[in-house]
Amino acid sequence: MLEDARGLLTAATDPHAIEAYERALADLQTFRGDPLAHVDAAIAADPGWAGGYVAKALILMTLFERRFARDARGALTAAKALLVGATARERDLWAAADLLAKGDWHGGTDGLERVLAEHPRDALALQVAHFMDFFRGDSLNLRNRVARVLPHWSEAVPGYPYVLGMHAFGLEECNQYPEAETMGRRALELADDDSWAIHAVAHVMEMQGRIDEGIAWLEERRPAWAAPGNGFAYHNAWHLALFHLDRADHAAVLALYDEWLAGAGAMALSRVDATALLWRLMLEGVDVGARIGAMADAWEADLDAEGGFYAFNDFHAALALSQAGRTKSLERLMAIANRAGSAQDANGEMERRVGLGACKAVIALCGGRPREAAELLAGIRDGASRFGGSHAQRDLLTLTLVEAATRSGQPALAVHYIAERLSQRPGNRWGLRLMGRARQAVPETARRAAPARSLALS
Ligand SMILES: [Fe+2]
Repeated sequence: MLEDARGLLTAATDPHAIEAYERALADLQTFRGDPLAHVDAAIAADPGWAGGYVAKALILMTLFERRFARDARGALTAAKALLVGATARERDLWAAADLLAKGDWHGGTDGLERVLAEHPRDALALQVAHFMDFFRGDSLNLRNRVARVLPHWSEAVPGYPYVLGMHAFGLEECNQYPEAETMGRRALELADDDSWAIHAVAHVMEMQGRIDEGIAWLEERRPAWAAPGNGFAYHNAWHLALFHLDRADHAAVLALYDEWLAGAGAMALSRVDATALLWRLMLEGVDVGARIGAMADAWEADLDAEGGFYAFNDFHAALALSQAGRTKSLERLMAIANRAGSAQDANGEMERRVGLGACKAVIALCGGRPREAAELLAGIRDGASRFGGSHAQRDLLTLTLVEAATRSGQPALAVHYIAERLSQRPGNRWGLRLMGRARQAVPETARRAAPARSLALS
């Protein structure tokens, strides 16, 4: 029995396995390197240690695609016979990972929480649970789960800055912007490579409409978040693009897209950001050219294998396919998503409550039925956190609702939601542009009245 770097007892017997596990954890915390290669090395060093397989399964689940969940189930099956020699913590982690891999995302996260209650320095359990909170749109636990373990951490414990970075993001998602910024800056004082903390402060600046500061923040820290091999760089680049979009600097947005997001086809996590950026550009009237066709191709290629796994991804597939006019693929997507929505699991509930309605809304908008789109979006928007993502990502729903209201001749409705958005981001330039556009829109009632007046004049 050996301890890990935070003093947690493991059933590993070969120190090389623990060293490899620590390297995997460090890669996961910094979004660099290849954590899966390191857990494979841990397994090779100590094939009788169930903890290596369990760590592999948990890390695979953070990638949140059906194919990785399948791989996770394979790792857990391999570990099953070894559990007899595992510690109680490792057995509990196995059970939590098993639930996650089978699609019980709430039950699996609850299992991780039980481990954290007993072992608050289990860095892997904490990070995986944090990602699960993000995927499940559990803003409260993005903050509170980290807060519950924080008293057990200090600068003396390896990985402490990354725990602060997670707390910073959780505070931001709970709208505690000053506290989030302080926490994120503290994390970065201790570890300037903490991409998650850089990202948390960028979120604060996004939500507070601090556009120029946000650009400076990310540009100054580009060497850290954009370092070679940083697997999260695409998302910080996406945030930088959002700031430029706020300034209506579309050339800068497209340059960032082409550098960081155009090649995002292989992973759903990055494809989501790429797609959302193209959709926002479309809402701004920007011609994105062949980019949308390429992104629709990427979603189509994965549709049968990955569709219906996660409602948030299905929604983004609908955005790309609608924007590209891929009617047949949309029909296929909706059949898959409807099937997923009938399942009694975490994703089924996400599809029923938010995903299916959101998909129908964007299909309606691109199909020339903006009033239907506005009605659908107004009905689901307030509960949309249930299908995951951040406030900044889900802002797309509000932007699309405003567009649908404007296109359908309901400027008062558009102004209504822009007012909410501006109250959260005072002086936000995109918000002000939207407000100007909505106020110039001709109400549908006036459109209907117009021919009658002209007839009367003639
Ligand atoms: Fe983000």
